Amino acid sequence: MTDTLQIDIHQIEKSRIDSVDFDNLVFGRSFADHMLMVDFKDGEWQTPQILPYGPISYSPAMMSLHYGQAIFEGMKAYKNAAGEILVFRPEENWKRLNKSAVRMCIPEIPEDIFMEGLSQLLRLDAEWIPAKEGCSMYIRPFMFSTDEYVGVSPSKTYKFMIFNCPVGSYYSKPLRVRVETQYIRAAHGGVGFSKNAGNYGGSLYPTKLAMDAGYDQIIWTDAATHTFVEEAGTMNLLFVIDGALVTAPTGDTILDGITRKSVLQVAKEWGMKIEERQLSVQELVEGIKAGKVTEAFGAGTAAVIAPIATIGFEGVDYQLPERADDAFSKRVFEEINDIRLGKKADTRGWVM
Ligand code: COI
Repeated sequence: MTDTLQIDIHQIEKSRIDSVDFDNLVFGRSFADHMLMVDFKDGEWQTPQILPYGPISYSPAMMSLHYGQAIFEGMKAYKNAAGEILVFRPEENWKRLNKSAVRMCIPEIPEDIFMEGLSQLLRLDAEWIPAKEGCSMYIRPFMFSTDEYVGVSPSKTYKFMIFNCPVGSYYSKPLRVRVETQYIRAAHGGVGFSKNAGNYGGSLYPTKLAMDAGYDQIIWTDAATHTFVEEAGTMNLLFVIDGALVTAPTGDTILDGITRKSVLQVAKEWGMKIEERQLSVQELVEGIKAGKVTEAFGAGTAAVIAPIATIGFEGVDYQLPERADDAFSKRVFEEINDIRLGKKADTRGWVM
């Protein structure tokens, strides 16, 4: 990474860091001192700015509020023992953000703005990166349309922004998840593969219903038949069945998760059998009953590796076995975590 891109930096006068209780971090409720902001207008991205984190004001007719041209990413930064800032696979997030951008008619963000903006922002907010085990700096890059216009068409102006949140864990205990068989997240030809704000908005109501019934999260099934397991919205889903790692293939309805692909790569290197294939809910529940499904877990940037304890389907709760000490999901978590924290050599070139 170079420092050649010009960024206008306006630093805060006084840090807010003393107002944050770093021993009791809640996910997504604390915001570091600075934010990156870059405007797209007259057909090009303008000079990036780093500003004090704070509100921005817009017209009530701002297009993204009405027609949903809004996409985002999630990344995490850590500090190693030498105090250097490490970010896990940010170029994957940059590529995925641009895939989402293309689908939503948003102009792609150049790599140097994304990477150099991120790098300078993290350097300024370095003190905010939690050192405590299990905590990290969650990084939220996002883009949205800003034209003041009520007609339905792609906006001519946009913003790309990044802000940072020191966070604790997203899920604090093994999850109870319910298979969703009424509502859908994504259909073929839609936007399920993208990190489109609307994908998350549409998930809130069915997730609320599941939460009211005592679950933490839902398992989405395919839109056409509700037969096959897809993903969980906040994370991809993986299962250990008869010793093989089974997960739905990513296509246009499933987010191409960076933690998911990292888990698959590690599993492959460890010689584990990998099955990227359709998994029916029926096969899953029969497998749990027969003791063939030994592990179920989610994988995502926020969620990291989130073990699943219970899967609810058609009114019946199916319990997964207690995780063994040498469970794959535990070992792969440790492997990825050690790399992210710089405790283990980054032989795969994953860390910036
Ligand atoms: C992430 O894992 O970064 C996500 O975006 C999922 C969720 C927090 C929205």
